Parts: sequence; structure tokens; C-alpha cells
Amino acid sequence: MVNVLVVGSGGREHALGWKLAQSSKVDKIYFAPGNGGTSHNVDISSEDIEGLATFAKENNCVTVVGPEVPLSMGIVDEFTKRGLRIFGPTKSAAQLESSKIWAKNFMKRNGILTARFEVFDDPKKAIEYAKSVDYPLVVKADGLAAGKGVIVCNDSSEVIDAIDKILVKKNFGNAGSNIILEERIDGVEASFIALSDGNTAYQMATSQDHKRIYDNDKGPNTGGMGTYSPTPVIDDATANEIQKNVIEKTISSMKKEGIVFKGFLYAGIMLKDGKPYVLEFNARMGDPECQPIMMRMDSDLIDYIQASIDGTLSTLSPISWKKQSAVCVILASKGYPESYPKNEEILGLDDSTPNSQVFHSGTRKEGGKVLTSGGRVLGVTAVGDTLEFAIKNAYARVDKISWPSKYYRTDIGKKGLILHE
Ligand code: AMP
Ligand code: GLY
Repeated sequence: MVNVLVVGSGGREHALGWKLAQSSKVDKIYFAPGNGGTSHNVDISSEDIEGLATFAKENNCVTVVGPEVPLSMGIVDEFTKRGLRIFGPTKSAAQLESSKIWAKNFMKRNGILTARFEVFDDPKKAIEYAKSVDYPLVVKADGLAAGKGVIVCNDSSEVIDAIDKILVKKNFGNAGSNIILEERIDGVEASFIALSDGNTAYQMATSQDHKRIYDNDKGPNTGGMGTYSPTPVIDDATANEIQKNVIEKTISSMKKEGIVFKGFLYAGIMLKDGKPYVLEFNARMGDPECQPIMMRMDSDLIDYIQASIDGTLSTLSPISWKKQSAVCVILASKGYPESYPKNEEILGLDDSTPNSQVFHSGTRKEGGKVLTSGGRVLGVTAVGDTLEFAIKNAYARVDKISWPSKYYRTDIGKKGLILHE
């Protein structure tokens, strides 16, 4: 039996802990700092590496890291130096996410399909370049910007505006000292996540996120308003192609460059004319991709985490998945992704059904009540024998939960149904 420390406070971390709690090999599960839905919360920030290491040592924990910031700060390097077991990529491996420029150059030199691009630190040169190309562009800040550093543009005035925001006005601080201008690829987006030990990589189930705030993909981008798994966007042939030409190529190219990638490797894919372009890499699980994926996972997650740490993944079989579909509908507070009210009491959480789980993110407990504390508040997740039933089950549960500023999209999963027809 092992104890586990889950680092982070989102729905992703709640779902990872929920799945790990089902294992007969796992004893205690702690969350640092956790949220209103997780129990055994430890009051240590996910960026306090020293505090986390001390806790993990004292409580004999295997540590599982959810978010990108501690990974990019080198939490894995520090724990490993201290002889502590931790699942995730080192600081240099996490560059795949923490520097978009590093990731783009890595893809270019290793022949991984991605949109063509140029890098700039001088706004004048960037504008000159933007005016010289005859295709639409996307402007990206190099560093971590909590999912907000990407501006998809329709014309050159939007590009100039974006360049000004990032390079001149420094809206993203140092994360925007350098920018990428890349070709906009118009296609269908999906998430492809694998679990690796640095040599072998096993596919997690496929999924599709809904990034825009409003129905029918309208409005600004968010951290993700809902997901479903599996997605028909990635059929078996496409999955095999992505596995071989993106995931395995990335792991082996990193190894060739002297970097061992352990942990979850997430490729944000745009499929265009049947070809998978990598839009971005994340060096972690997606949120809210994690919630439906965990509900569909049949294998014991702790076995794969331990094997990733030990480099023995090839001794296990590939991960097995329930045939059922799963859908996660994010309940947010009205106003997100801008400003929104907090501290509203959430009602209707007690009602449980065997086919659904409510994963918390922006919540906290106070005097027996559960209060909202963030923009994305809950991830209402349900399974069903078909995608259609999973959607019905998820929204039936959504209807039972209430607070004054509750907001959600009503069309999560619909894209998957249309593709089925
Ligand atoms: P990223 O963080 O790089 O994945 O960008 C966030 C979102 O911006 C993606 O999920 C896409 O919806 C969009 N995006 C990023 N790069 C491109 C691109 N080259 N073409 C079209 N859309 C993109
Ligand atoms: N849902 C997108 C992400 O986790 O980056």
C-alpha cells in the first residue's frame, strides 16, 4: 500500500484522486491544497516545492503533480534529488509546455507536423512579417499564461493589436518577451494524451474540449467548458498515426536530445485534410479532459504511475478503457473568464447517481457549506452507453445543482453526435 500526495486544486486533481482512491494498492490520499470536494486537504500551495517535499517525506507519499507551474519550476527535479518518488516531467522535459518557442523548434528539427511559424521580440519586425504573409495568423506569447497567451486572428489589424498587447503593453509580463506568429490552421480540434516513462508511451482515451465560453463555440477562450471521451474526431487510424508520428516521435526525439519525458504528454491536435497538426504540447493532464478520461479508465492508475517513475511501463499491458462514453459539463460562475462573483453557496451536491460524479474545482468548504471560489466551479461528469446517453446523464445531474451565478454551456458533446451521423 502506498500513500499519494496529489498536487493542485482543480477538477483534474479531484478526478485523479477519485480514480486513485479505487485502487486496493493506495492507502491515504492527500491533496495540496485541494478544494471543497477533496478530503485530506493539506494547506500547502502547489508552488511551495520545499513545503510539499517535506510533507511527502514525512508521510511517505508518491507525489502526482497536476498543474504545469510546479512542473516548470522543477518540482520533479527537486523531489528526485531528495530521493522522493514523483510522477511527472522534469523542468527540462516540461519545456515542451513552458516555452512555446522551444516546443515549436523541437517539432521543426524533429519533423513533427505543426503550423509554420516565425519568432519575434521586436514589434516592428513582427508587424512587417505579418503584413508580408498571405495567410491568417495566430499570435502566441512564448511562456505560461494560464491558457490566455494565444490570440487567434482574422485579419492584420487583429494581429497588430495582439503584437502590441504582448510585446509592447506586456499584458503577459515576461511570458510575452518573445512571440510566435504562426499560420492559423482551420480544422477540427481534439486532445490526444499519453502516459510515458521516457521510453514507452501508452495512449489515454481520446477526448475533445470546448474552449469557448458560449454555445456553438462563440466568445472568448477559457480553460475549457466541457469535454467528452472518446471522440469520433480521432478514429483508430488517426489515433495510430498520432501515436506514432507525434507521441512516440516526441518521446524518442527527446531521448535523443538527452531528455527523458516521464508523465502525461498532451498533444493539442488540429486535424486538417486528414493530417494531425500539433497546436501545442502540455506536459500534464488536461483539465477538463482528465475528468471523463478517469471515469472511463478500467486499469489501475497507480500501476501506471509507479511504472512511469521506475521506467518499467513496457512490462504492463496498454491501458484498458470502458466502452461507455463520458461527458464533463463545466459549471462556471457567470462572468468567467473575466471577473465573476465568489462565495455563493452551492446547493444540490448531495444527490448522487451511480453514473455520475461531480468533480470540484473552484470551491471551498466553510462551516458545512460548499461555496464558490473560482471561475470554473464544478465538472459534472457522467457515463452512458452511448455519447447521447452520457450527455443526458450529465445534464440531468447539472439541473440538480444550483447557485445564483451558475453558468454552463448547453451543447457539450454535441460535436461528437454530429460527427456520428
Ligand atoms: P494553444 O495553447 O497553443 O493550444 O492555443 C490555444 C487555442 O488556440 C487552441 O486550443 C486552438 O483553439 C487555438 N490555436 C492555437 N494555435 C492555432 C493555430 N495554429 N491555428 C488555429 N487555431 C490555433
Ligand atoms: N483543457 C485544456 C488544457 O488543459 O490545457
